[in-house]
Amino acid sequence: MPVESEVKDLALAERGRNRVEWAAQSMPVLNAIAKRFQREKPLAGIRLAACLHVTTETARLVQTLKAGGATVRLCASNPLSTQDDVAAFLAGEEGVPVFAIRGEDRDTYYRHIHQALAMRPHITMDDGADLVSTIHSERRELQEEIIAGTEETTTGVIRLRSMAKDGVLAYPIIAVNDAKTKHLFDNRYGTGQSTVDGIVRATNRLLAGSTFVVSGYGWCGRGVAMRARGMGANVVITEVEPLRALEAVMDGYQIMPMLQAAKIGDLFCTVTGDIRVIRREHFAVMKDGAILCNSGHFNVEIDLEALAGMARERRDIRDNVQVYTLPDGRRLNVLAEGRLVNLAAAEGHPPSVMDMSFANQALSAAYLAKNGAKLKKQVYEVPEEIDREVAALKLRAMAIEIDELLPDQKRYLSSWDMGT
Ligand code: ADE
Repeated sequence: MPVESEVKDLALAERGRNRVEWAAQSMPVLNAIAKRFQREKPLAGIRLAACLHVTTETARLVQTLKAGGATVRLCASNPLSTQDDVAAFLAGEEGVPVFAIRGEDRDTYYRHIHQALAMRPHITMDDGADLVSTIHSERRELQEEIIAGTEETTTGVIRLRSMAKDGVLAYPIIAVNDAKTKHLFDNRYGTGQSTVDGIVRATNRLLAGSTFVVSGYGWCGRGVAMRARGMGANVVITEVEPLRALEAVMDGYQIMPMLQAAKIGDLFCTVTGDIRVIRREHFAVMKDGAILCNSGHFNVEIDLEALAGMARERRDIRDNVQVYTLPDGRRLNVLAEGRLVNLAAAEGHPPSVMDMSFANQALSAAYLAKNGAKLKKQVYEVPEEIDREVAALKLRAMAIEIDELLPDQKRYLSSWDMGT
């Protein structure tokens, strides 16, 4: 291998190169940032370890970070989401050390994290906080050289905020997930489309007329529910937060506890970020042939251990579908081992939405290279000017113009004494 890497097969590089080129066609904001980075080199001298889903969109981000002058190492943020052709392209043609093989076991997954960290990063870029947690448990000596980090996803931000609250976070982190140009689009429209895509690719089932249970009505759940309804499913929502449940009611969905939903659902999709959302008592009442999947970050939302314990047989029935047969003959079908179905059974979010998420990542990395040393050991929002710049660049790329406030309109909005 041209650089120290662990990927499936370098012969896949050409296919990876073509697919990255295809994705880049829909990533105008990141492309503009890459051009600017090429000139300005805001990441010169920065060693950046990234733990992200290894996809075509991530490859375009890695190219952008390199254009900015960073030295990058990449490992996977999920054992089943790696696109092996993309890993081969980055390792074989872009000279980026990549440690990611689709289907890697748990030990390999963590070994790859350590291999990425071996570069002694100045900046960490996480999707799920696995770099940060390894740096806080097994690799504390690396903290000395780390300036700061970024976090891509809701689950990671929750973990990091609780570390900051307990006073154990060793370096500042920017919560990229919390940028408006990230979660309002990626979490909603990206997860919505790619989850339905993953389910359809894995099952080839018709959604129209089915009862589709979505667990969790955060931004991801809203997206999945919206798109499942668009395909003709009768969508049921389960929630624990009264406000979100109320919003789901007013959005026109049926709301009920999981124990009730379990009896009527044809398809179940968890997007809560919590453990054991679907468990023994729910499996016990599900219909024969029910399909279960997860689009939350970790494979903890469906209690597969309990299901395995209840089943008399478990076997693969088609790619990404395992059927568990219960003693009474009912068959429950689990997609992609309960891992992120949108990345394991499809290709993740489409590039035009990752364009904005990864523009936030690239600009946040540049911000941290410049300002990271001044920050406290806390979780920070993406600076508002970055969020606004990403939105403006995206609109410009879409050739959409908007109005500007007139001077008297501006004055009116900042005054308190101008009435009727
Ligand atoms: N997370 C969700 N979709 C993704 C994609 N296409 N690339 C990287 N990370 C993702």
